[in-house]
Amino acid sequence: MTNFTYSAAALDRLKANDSDVFKALMQEEVRQSEGIELIPSENYCFPEVYALLGSVFNNKYSEGYPGRRYYGGQENTDIIENLARDRAKSLFRAEYANVQPLGGSAMNQAIYFGLLQPGDTILAMDLSHGGHLTHGAPVSHMSKVFNFVRYKSEVPTGNIDLAKVRALALEHKPKMIICGFSSYPRELDYAGFKKIADEVGALTFADVSHIGGLIAGGALANPMDFGFDVMSTTTHKSLRGPRGGMILAKKQYGQALDKSVFPGLQGGPHMHQVAAVATTLKLAAEEPFKKYARDVIANAKTLAQTLLQQGAELVTGGTDNHMMVVNTINSFNINGTVAEHVLDAAGITLNKQMVPDDPNPPLKPSGIRLGTPAATARGMGENEMKLLGNIMVRALRSHEDTVALEKLRDETRAICSRFPVPGVSNDGKSHSSAAA
Ligand SMILES: Cc1ncc(COP(=O)(O)O)c(C=O)c1O
Repeated sequence: MTNFTYSAAALDRLKANDSDVFKALMQEEVRQSEGIELIPSENYCFPEVYALLGSVFNNKYSEGYPGRRYYGGQENTDIIENLARDRAKSLFRAEYANVQPLGGSAMNQAIYFGLLQPGDTILAMDLSHGGHLTHGAPVSHMSKVFNFVRYKSEVPTGNIDLAKVRALALEHKPKMIICGFSSYPRELDYAGFKKIADEVGALTFADVSHIGGLIAGGALANPMDFGFDVMSTTTHKSLRGPRGGMILAKKQYGQALDKSVFPGLQGGPHMHQVAAVATTLKLAAEEPFKKYARDVIANAKTLAQTLLQQGAELVTGGTDNHMMVVNTINSFNINGTVAEHVLDAAGITLNKQMVPDDPNPPLKPSGIRLGTPAATARGMGENEMKLLGNIMVRALRSHEDTVALEKLRDETRAICSRFPVPGVSNDGKSHSSAAA
């Protein structure tokens, strides 16, 4: 059998022909193995995904859709794209799926342009309260094309007051209402949002990029079950697939959305990514993934509890999903940027984060955001969450003590060494270690 994939032979060539990139690849594998990844939007993909991303599907141009492409030679790409679309529809109980968006931002742009007109009003969650840049943050191009109005969560509970959302909807008459977030640790009331949207004649759009895997695994509610018109998810976060985006919708929007993705916004789809999405969706429908989704949330609750017990202040006081936001200024008297660096030194990777109505700027915000999808993919459980939570708090308290941070890094490494990264061997070498 021929094998042009991410193989030892291909890596041997890389090592011989570009030692600089090869070295960075090896270092990155070590970094991902030795430290703990708590950025809630990151994950370790299924090992099968590496095989497809490094496969000959990378070579193929497939503009168009299965059965109506602009290039020949599509007998295998049609198979994988049909599989991916059918699996997506079945897993998320949707009538329509498009698996071509190259990423999460592209998928959301395709939805706006496919279903709305420039200048239309969209009601979405405020950025500092957890919304995403693509939901109309002033720095995004989308905010120049559409008129975004923002709803907020209540401080400090984090609840979304639907009476206030309704009042905004009645005042601004949005054409679309978005339920979705990149930094909000609670479940949203999809039925409540849908009722408001119906009252004002708005489309309902759920961007479940962060929690797509948890919905697929049955651990969180699925907006499509509440009659939402359209839903988007990235495929590389809790879903454990390749980097990419996916759109699900009611059938009646299918034609407009297909046209909006291609030729409206994109050219050729990345068929190696589409193939990897197909396999990801098969794996995400199986029993072990359901357990994984439940474990991600159980781990997040344990980690949140550990941090609370040690005196940390969490935005909304806890979590219902995979992530949490810690107000590091109130808890440890350091901003999120300092906290991010301190924890990096202790072998813990997470990101600085704004808190609701943050008085501080985005590059020096008041908090950090962390989550459990990647740690859970390594097989870590509640015991490890308690250990890691304790290391975090000790590191943040001794943030000026480099010797203490070095010791804490050793503790993190010791925990991580017991939980190999899927697809990467425990010695920090790799599925590519044959060439290292
Ligand atoms: C809610 C949400 N939507 C969209 C995106 C954009 O995804 P991408 O980074 O693939 O463009 C993200 C990424 O963090 C997200 O959290």
